[in-house]
Amino acid sequence: MKSLIDILDLSVEEIDGLISVANDIIENPEKYSEKCKGKKLATLFYEPSTRTRLSFEAAMYELGGNVLGFSEASSSSVAKGESVADTIHMINCYADIVAMRHPKEGAPLVAAKATERAPIINAGDGGHFHPTQTLTDLLTISRHKGRLSDLTIGLCGDLKFGRTVHSLIAAMSRYSGIKFVLISPQELRVPEYVREDVLEKKGIPYFETASLEEAIPELDILYMTRIQRERFSSQEEYLRLKDSYILDPEKLVSAKSDLCIMHPLPRVNEISTRVDSDPRACYFDQALCGKYIRMALILKLLDEAKDKTKPQFEHEGVLKGVHTCKNPRCITSIEQELEHEFRLADPEKNIYRCVYCDAPAED
Ligand code: NCD
Repeated sequence: MKSLIDILDLSVEEIDGLISVANDIIENPEKYSEKCKGKKLATLFYEPSTRTRLSFEAAMYELGGNVLGFSEASSSSVAKGESVADTIHMINCYADIVAMRHPKEGAPLVAAKATERAPIINAGDGGHFHPTQTLTDLLTISRHKGRLSDLTIGLCGDLKFGRTVHSLIAAMSRYSGIKFVLISPQELRVPEYVREDVLEKKGIPYFETASLEEAIPELDILYMTRIQRERFSSQEEYLRLKDSYILDPEKLVSAKSDLCIMHPLPRVNEISTRVDSDPRACYFDQALCGKYIRMALILKLLDEAKDKTKPQFEHEGVLKGVHTCKNPRCITSIEQELEHEFRLADPEKNIYRCVYCDAPAED
């Protein structure tokens, strides 16, 4: 059995396989319409969602399966204080596969460690990861650009809390000829675990700037993101940064004619609606790609669930009970019985990170 918590749980070959199945589904949907007959997907959404939840549900229905679940924590037993692990033990009695979104980072990993039968899909954990959005993005890029290599990718907006950005950087860093331009205010730069563990470690060329205008001309892909209001501890800070970037037709004058403009959506103000009619705007097509790649993912994980071995989420050199995670967004901050575990992220610098949220160990 395999769960999907981090995009790196899938090899490049597995991702290629998912993309080709998704393309086949687009061409021949009828071939897949009964593939999940009798199967149930549970959507456990402890945090708001439109596209992710509905595309998962549409995906399961188009495969001939059924869906159950909840779309807000207040309507489930979490409101009564139930732990993630207990919820998952119970869901294993009712569903064959689970998509989980949670405001606390690492909650889907807790679920994946606890599940007995049903694979777990991380549908977004706090400001950490969002692997199925990344699969969506990869399908969109491969369909629009015809390749996943040799691209200059601009990521713009809230690169600190934008979980889609973290997973996309990790995924794209495995292809050749990738260069990133990271466009954000100083306060919203990518977190250290992305910069150090992915970009620096792999020697991926990247450049950080606050200016969208300066970056635009060299980009093949411009990935706009929303400033993540719900993850700010200070509302004042959010208000100060919220309209940092607004993409409009005037800014696009200097862009390449085959630029691919992406956004995981929802947008707040980051892309003017005047851009929607530009042939380079790919974001609505991106939302459609989300359904097809999730169909391919459900098929793959259900197929692999036949293999009863539990997925291994044991990291090498894990320290248990030595450090305490200080990240208030980590699942360990609300689940008292969860043991704090730190993995050795960088043996040379002796840096340990929380296995749930990647926060560094502090003494
Ligand atoms: C994103 C998310 O939830 O992280 N939305 C999505 O899943 N398509 C982006 C966002 O909320 O800004």
